[in-house]
Amino acid sequence: MRIFGRRKPIDSVHDNPGGEKLKRTLSWPHLLALGVGGIVGTGIYTLIGQAAGLAGPGMIISFVIAGVVSACAALAYAEMATMMPAAGSAYTYSYVVMGEPVAWFVGWSLILEYTVVCAAVAVGWSAYAAGFMAWLHLPIIPALLAGPSSGGLVNLPAVGISLAVAALLAAGTRESATINAILVVLKLAALAAFVALALPAFDPAHFKPFLPYGISSVTPEGVKLGVLPAASLIFFAFYGFDAISTAAEEAKNPSRDLAIGIVGSMLLCTAIYIAVAATAIGAVPTIRFAGSAEPLALILRTLHQDNWSAVIGGAAVIAFPTVIMVFMFGQSRIFFVMARDRLLPGALARVNSKTGTPIAVTIFTGVVAAIIAGLAPLKLIAELANSGTLCAFVAVALAMMIYRRTNPGRPRVFKAPLWWLVGPAAILGCLYLFWSLPALTQRLFLFWNVAGMVVYAVYGRKTSRLAGS
Ligand code: ALA
Repeated sequence: MRIFGRRKPIDSVHDNPGGEKLKRTLSWPHLLALGVGGIVGTGIYTLIGQAAGLAGPGMIISFVIAGVVSACAALAYAEMATMMPAAGSAYTYSYVVMGEPVAWFVGWSLILEYTVVCAAVAVGWSAYAAGFMAWLHLPIIPALLAGPSSGGLVNLPAVGISLAVAALLAAGTRESATINAILVVLKLAALAAFVALALPAFDPAHFKPFLPYGISSVTPEGVKLGVLPAASLIFFAFYGFDAISTAAEEAKNPSRDLAIGIVGSMLLCTAIYIAVAATAIGAVPTIRFAGSAEPLALILRTLHQDNWSAVIGGAAVIAFPTVIMVFMFGQSRIFFVMARDRLLPGALARVNSKTGTPIAVTIFTGVVAAIIAGLAPLKLIAELANSGTLCAFVAVALAMMIYRRTNPGRPRVFKAPLWWLVGPAAILGCLYLFWSLPALTQRLFLFWNVAGMVVYAVYGRKTSRLAGS
């Protein structure tokens, strides 16, 4: 079925037109670690405080909803990624299955997602870095820890880390699978330590009232509150597994290992998140950590575990930059693939001969992420990132379903179970989460994509490699 526009032939989808081959050294534990490395970050460490403010103890249901929707999308993702292990992920699958205009829309949304995720993780990092510095008796001036809309001047540490990661990437730094695995262990050990330390303070009374703002409600000022708006925010914590598909060329057994990596990392993180969220709610009334920029550290301080609170902050400070790296790398790949398809200017795909990296694109992404991180409030940027991701997930689930109908005979090493249920659940779940986002986020997303469609109409449509086909 051709929805509209020209489509890319599936067999032309590959990562390295130059023919260079990467060594196949990674097996499923590496890919699982890569997935967890991209997933665990600001969402569980920071946004859990914002989610508590939106839903109270009922945020535990928000975690379950966001986890189920993401798991359904991950199953569709695993099927498509193993069939087309190529850079560009959702953009590439959409191009093959649904045609160029849809692919453009998805690619343009991914550009928004990746840039804004980098900014959001940088803001989360900044809060933990500030807490850690305060523990060292080196406090940072509050005006330099938040943008003007949050009562400060600029979030300087967030600006610094965005630029630093961009510089590292531009210089050709790649996170090695080994370093990633070490950082993943560190992040998970810190969460395990949090659960172990906070669990003894568990009091079921903290779960009452369970739904102070209901499932979904709107204040007279138009602010959306309740379980669903919290789910559409905390959804941020669940994605990042697409990082795995960028390593497809290096997987020993790509089809099996990618599927295990994607689905496994998703399920593992969902289980860990629910444990952390339930422990946090049980240990301290949600009102105490609602809106905190470093809620896990705050909870431990409340429980008089100051040194452990610093350890958790330190783990976040060491490990978060790799999350930024994963998404910034993803950003340059999206630009690269869209430019290679001639939907964006070819200059964006230019790789520096010395470092082997697209320097201009990487620095550009770093600067834009730094500006957003320095000035905008975390909740807004996380929700904006979610809007782009939700769009990509809808596209992947749709592509999976359409391709089942149009190409049933194509070998699928990983088949999403119950695809007729998983596909619609992912699509409807993502649409519902999008609907629960604040009106401002929805408008910004719309504005971004209208601008994108104009660029496509006046540029990409004519310059496309497939123009005339
Ligand atoms: N899931 C990633 C995080 O929580 C984006 O930081």
